[in-house]
Amino acid sequence: MPANQESRAESRDKQKSDPKDQLYLKSLLNIKTIPPPDKLRRTTILNTLADKFKYQCYLEIGLGRKENNYDWVECRAKTSVDPNPLLKAAFPMTSDQYFALHHDFMDLIFVDGLHHADQVERDIANSLNVLKRNGTIVVHDCNPTTEEMQIVPGQSQQAWTGDVWKAWVKLRATRADLTMAVVNVDNGCGIIRRGGQETIAMPEQLTYPLFEINRAKWLNLISIEEFLRDLRRYR
Ligand SMILES: C[S@@+](CC[C@H](N)C(=O)[O-])C[C@H]1O[C@@H](n2cnc3c(N)ncnc32)[C@H](O)[C@@H]1O
Repeated sequence: MPANQESRAESRDKQKSDPKDQLYLKSLLNIKTIPPPDKLRRTTILNTLADKFKYQCYLEIGLGRKENNYDWVECRAKTSVDPNPLLKAAFPMTSDQYFALHHDFMDLIFVDGLHHADQVERDIANSLNVLKRNGTIVVHDCNPTTEEMQIVPGQSQQAWTGDVWKAWVKLRATRADLTMAVVNVDNGCGIIRRGGQETIAMPEQLTYPLFEINRAKWLNLISIEEFLRDLRRYR
């Protein structure tokens, strides 16, 4: 992780020391007023899903600094994968190595490891193999807002998403058996569940200018209100 991303993470830590901001990390299921989108984080999305579906088993691919997300996820049994030994993940290895060795079924999987499209594609495919029937995969950083922030490899940009979006768009074009939408918070939190979707047409070359034109459709970009409305459809 580039040094300036650490400092971004540190400023988020400070934000979370405010008790009011900690509230924004919690499930949104039973709150009356939805906080503004800039307050909402991947943690909010994960906790809302865990609350809705009573999830027990959580896997985070790409732990990073655990106080930035993992520690706040409200699931009984949590585990993590990250090859950086300093981060002390439960499984200090790459996600490919983890999935080659472990096949425990999970309710909720957060894909936030190496942000290169080919790796994200593998992480999602491997996650689907161990996802429980009613489980959900959340993919971080699906919605870059500038061309620069999605260039691979990262050049120590202030905010870097990598080209996760390309892996997402390929699945939107090929997997009619999945339900997929990106919630427009925290650089785009992609939600994948078993179900169905109308697949999109995808050009031969996935370029950022084309992505900009087709962003809403390719991602199936939804607001936090639409996310909560969609969740209400599930019993
Ligand atoms: C963006 S950070 C994760 C942030 C964290 N999930 C959060 O929400 O704050 C990405 C992490 O992925 C890890 N990583 C890099 N390559 C990986 C791989 N092949 N498999 C799993 N994790 C990887 C890095 O070491 C880094 O800690």
